[in-house]
Amino acid sequence: MGPVRLMKVFITRRIPAEGRAALARASDCEVEQWDSDEPIPYKDLERGLTGAHGLLCLLSDCVDKKLLDTAGANLKVISTLSVGVDHLALDEIKKRCLIHSGIRVGYTPDVLTDATAELAVSLLLTTCRRLPEAIEEVKNGGWTSWKPLWLCGYGLKESTVGIIGLGRIGQAIARRLKPFGVQRFLYTGRQPKPKEAAEFQAEFVTTSQLAAESDFIIVSCSLTPATKGLCNSAFFQQMKKTAVFVNISRGEVVNQDDLYQALTSSQIAAAGLDVTTPEPLPTNHPLLTLKNCVILPHIGSATYGTRNTMSLLAANNLLAGLRGEPMPSEFKL
Ligand code: NDP
Ligand code: DGY
Repeated sequence: MGPVRLMKVFITRRIPAEGRAALARASDCEVEQWDSDEPIPYKDLERGLTGAHGLLCLLSDCVDKKLLDTAGANLKVISTLSVGVDHLALDEIKKRCLIHSGIRVGYTPDVLTDATAELAVSLLLTTCRRLPEAIEEVKNGGWTSWKPLWLCGYGLKESTVGIIGLGRIGQAIARRLKPFGVQRFLYTGRQPKPKEAAEFQAEFVTTSQLAAESDFIIVSCSLTPATKGLCNSAFFQQMKKTAVFVNISRGEVVNQDDLYQALTSSQIAAAGLDVTTPEPLPTNHPLLTLKNCVILPHIGSATYGTRNTMSLLAANNLLAGLRGEPMPSEFKL
C-alpha cells in the first residue's frame, strides 16, 4: 500500500480549543494554521490557501474571486466560523460548482442564536436607558443630585418593536423582549412568515411602515445586495424622533453617514451598533463622538461556550465536507 495522501487544510486564525482538537485528531488531514489572534495578511492567506482542499476562515477574511483562483481546483470546502456568509464571494463559488465537482460551504447557524439575541437585548437596553452616559457621569462628578429629568430614556413597556429580519436571531430577540411588556411587534423580510410570527403576533409590514411606527428598531437580517444600505436617510427620516435604532447584523446594512446625520439632527433618539463599516471602526470616527450612539466591537456571539461550539461545528463541517459526508450545517448555495 502506498502512502496515504493527506488533505491540506488551512485555518486563517487561532480558534477555540474544541475546534482545534477536532482538526488535530483528523488523521486524513494535514492542518496548517495562521497562528495568531490577529487577521492574516492577504499575501499569507494566498500562500496558505494554494493547493488547499479545505479552508476554515473567519468573517474578517474576504474570500473573493482572486483568492478562489489562487486556491485552485483542489479546494473542496470553505467552512466559516460564522453564520453570516457575506464575506464569501458566493456567486464565484457557485460558478466553480458548475465547472469543477464543486465547493461546499459550511457555516454556524443556531449555535450562536441565544448569545447574539442576548447581546442585542443588552445593547438595546444600554442604549435606550443611556447606561454609558450614566456611568460616565458617576465617574466625572456630573452626579450632583437625584434629578427628575436627568438621564431619562425610553422604556419597552407598551412599545412597538420593529424587527428587520425575523430569522433565527430576530425571533430569539423578540422572545426575549416580549416579557418586557412590548405591545406590538412588526417585522419585514422577503416574505411573511406567519408560523414564526404567530408566537409574537408579529405583523408583516413594509420597511416604511416599520420605520414610521416602531419605538425600537432592531436590524437582524443577513447582508445581501437587497439589504445593503437599507437603513439610509429616507429610512431614518421616517422614524419617530423618540425612536431607538439597533443594528446587530452587518455594518453595511446601514448608511453610517446618514445615521450620523439622523443622530446629530435629532431625527432619531439614539443608536446602538454591534457592527460597523469598517471593522474595527477608526477611533476618530464621528459616530464615536456622540453621546446618543453606543458602539460595541462585534461581540454578538462572544461567550466562551458559544465560540467553542462554533469552532467545533466549523471543524466538523470542514471534515465532513472533505470526506464527502453530510455536513452538520451546510450553506445551500
Ligand atoms: P437567518 O437566515 O435565520 O435570518 C436572516 C433574516 O434576514 C431572515 O429573516 C431574512 O428574511 C432576512 N432578510 C433577508 N433578506 C432581507 C431583506 N431584503 N429585507 C429584510 N429582511 C431580509 O439568519 P440568523 O438570524 O441566524 O443571522 C442573521 C444575521 O445576523 C447573520 O447573517 C449575520 O450577519 C448577523 N449576525 C451577527 C452577529 C453579531 O455578532 N453581531 C452574530 C450572528 C449573526 P426572510 O425570513 O424573509 O428570509
Ligand atoms: C456571525 O456569525 O455572522 C457573527 O457576526 C459572528 O458570530
